[in-house]
Amino acid sequence: MTSHDIAVIGGTGPQGKGLAYRWALHGHRIVLGSRAADRAESAAVEVRERMHGASVTGATNDDAVAGADVVVLAVPYDGHDALVSKLARALDGKIVISCVNPLGFDKQGPYGLPLEQSAAESAAALVPAARVVGAFHHVSAVSLWSDAAYLDHEDVLVCGDDAEAKAVVIELARSVTGRDGVDAGRLRLARQLEPLTAVLISINKRYKTRSGIAVSGLPT
Ligand SMILES: NC(=O)c1ccc[n+]([C@@H]2O[C@H](COP(=O)([O-])OP(=O)(O)OC[C@H]3O[C@@H](n4cnc5c(N)ncnc54)[C@H](OP(=O)(O)O)[C@@H]3O)[C@@H](O)[C@H]2O)c1
Repeated sequence: MTSHDIAVIGGTGPQGKGLAYRWALHGHRIVLGSRAADRAESAAVEVRERMHGASVTGATNDDAVAGADVVVLAVPYDGHDALVSKLARALDGKIVISCVNPLGFDKQGPYGLPLEQSAAESAAALVPAARVVGAFHHVSAVSLWSDAAYLDHEDVLVCGDDAEAKAVVIELARSVTGRDGVDAGRLRLARQLEPLTAVLISINKRYKTRSGIAVSGLPT
């Protein structure tokens, strides 16, 4: 497996930290990004405490992006566009993974926000030279942070328009599930993948579980 320098923007949150932990276990070098360097370093300490010898450090979001070949957007949808715009120049040419789910919650529960484009497409529109890939939308932070060696009952669905970038992310999914991510098509399909998380959250509530996605019928 190729080793990567991965920056996790919003890496102080559970999803960013969870992904960082999984990738650190597989020898990737991680910088957790935050709007505040001290918060990023505290999050990095948490990951290093779980995995001695992990290459995980903390930095401001801008500094984290600078040295990375892969950048993960793990921030809430609220504030996403402003943050991506701010980082735009630094993101040029990089593989950018978006796991952002634009969801709303009301009395009936979770739902996908009615948007003209997905969060992943927004990132691609804001930084046209970035190689944006949508993935890891359906993997729960709690599962990522768990002791399970692999989340081997789940698939990671990967969508994007840049075949080379998508191949990198498909391989990065191996650190999480133990097998390649599933090529789910073009980036515009993030419009379907992102709100699907609302369904999983609803299932989780009903069955008191942590549901995920597993695709049947794939060639072995
Ligand atoms: N949690 C899950 O199980 C899960 C699963 C799949 C996908 N996701 C998606 O992954 C993303 C991150 O989820 P999360 O639960 O880790 O989120 P979170 O804890 O709410 O936020 C992650 C980090 O983003 C930063 N942040 C918050 N508001 C921001 C703003 N307005 N501008 C810039 N940075 C901001 C904060 O870091 P600093 O304050 O340190 O900058 C925060 O620690 C979300 O889009 C979510 O939909 C989450």
